[in-house]
Amino acid sequence: MSKSLQAIRGMNDILPEQTPLWRYFEGTVARLLDNYGYKQIRMPIVEFTELFKRSIGEVTDIVEKEMYTFEDRNGDSLTLRPEGTAACVRAVLEHGITGGGQVQKLWYIGPMFRHERPQKGRYRQFHQIGLEVFNLDGPDIDAELIIMTWRLWGELGIRDAVKLELNSLGTSESRGRYREALVEYLSAHHDKLDEDSQRRLKTNPLRVLDTKNADTQAVLVDAPKMADYLDDESRAHFEGLKARLDAVGIPYVLNPKLVRGLDYYSKTVFEWVTDKLGAQGTVCAGGRYDGLVEQMGGKPTPGVGFAMGIERLVLMLETLEQIPEEISRQVDVYLCAFSEEAELAGLALAERVRDQLPNLRLQVNAGAGSFKSQFKKADKSGALYALILGDDEMAQQVVGFKPLRGQGEQQSIAWDALAAHLATCVVQG
Ligand code: HAM
Repeated sequence: MSKSLQAIRGMNDILPEQTPLWRYFEGTVARLLDNYGYKQIRMPIVEFTELFKRSIGEVTDIVEKEMYTFEDRNGDSLTLRPEGTAACVRAVLEHGITGGGQVQKLWYIGPMFRHERPQKGRYRQFHQIGLEVFNLDGPDIDAELIIMTWRLWGELGIRDAVKLELNSLGTSESRGRYREALVEYLSAHHDKLDEDSQRRLKTNPLRVLDTKNADTQAVLVDAPKMADYLDDESRAHFEGLKARLDAVGIPYVLNPKLVRGLDYYSKTVFEWVTDKLGAQGTVCAGGRYDGLVEQMGGKPTPGVGFAMGIERLVLMLETLEQIPEEISRQVDVYLCAFSEEAELAGLALAERVRDQLPNLRLQVNAGAGSFKSQFKKADKSGALYALILGDDEMAQQVVGFKPLRGQGEQQSIAWDALAAHLATCVVQG
């Protein structure tokens, strides 16, 4: 027997009952980004594999074991994007839109792909809204990114459930000095480290800091601290960021072990975390990457950005029951017609109403049906009102206007007056 067709593990359908919440979330973020002066960019989903290796780093989990990489028919190695920053940097370089110090404030939305072990809040195809700012090197813009997300959490009603973790990785020079000190310390305790950390000590020692292994964590207690190795410039930048967050009243926790899983960061790194989602608690994360553009063949160009996981934030809205009431209703008015003649008149009437009320969610019954069955469909649609066209209404050129949610009696409305009447009783989104 043939196996039934199924979606790939970790790659989910977003069903019609879920999409209103997704659209509400995406719409809220898009409006906020517009208001802060960010412009949308759209990059391809597939890029040359080399792009991700060079930007994210060869010895990161993403590049080592999580990328969906394949050879196309030309023999080129291509990869489904595991994140958006690399492609965004590639795009701005390719189109020269950051040349001559031009400031770019960009955002993107779309699916990303990582071959991770699926669990709640962690998928193989997931969706991000990300943003990247180029050619601004001060802490003011780092602060703006965080302030904007803080506002977003407020608008979504989840502010009390997220916490900001902050760290500075310093410039590449200061990070290099810190790495040396850390390697020296950890090498002296090599036998007490877990296997993964022993391997990371050789390839990517800073990642040892975010180990989950208790023994290794114990070794780390007395390890050299990153903050002690920050150069003056990074220290001033970090202080500048903190002062701005304090001025706006955004609380944060300094986490010296926050190193992030991608190699391109310098100076500021941050994560918004929650304890409402279980193990996958990071809902938004990012930082500064002043060396990345140059590393990818461009002129030195400071950059900073973040990305948020849409699945995780939608899960949070559900968990905290922060789902606005209006998004659960998708139909305002449902038109029922009970003869062929009435159906034709109803179609024309519906179009006239739509001309006058373009935001009205008006559904016309399709598939004919008895009085009872059309009413059942009208009720099930969630509409507030049913419009009725039967023989009597046709004769009088009126439409029956029937409240479905218990707000008063049925009335007759003249066809010409229908749009004006609807405008007074349906709040349009
Ligand atoms: P990231 O930390 O790898 O950073 O991902 C950002 C966010 O995407 C995470 O905080 C999480 O909410 C979501 N996410 C990541 N992996 C998964 C997954 N497997 N399933 C569900 N959600 C996931 C970046 O991607 C950077 N490009 C962010 C950035 C932009 N840094 C600077 N600019």
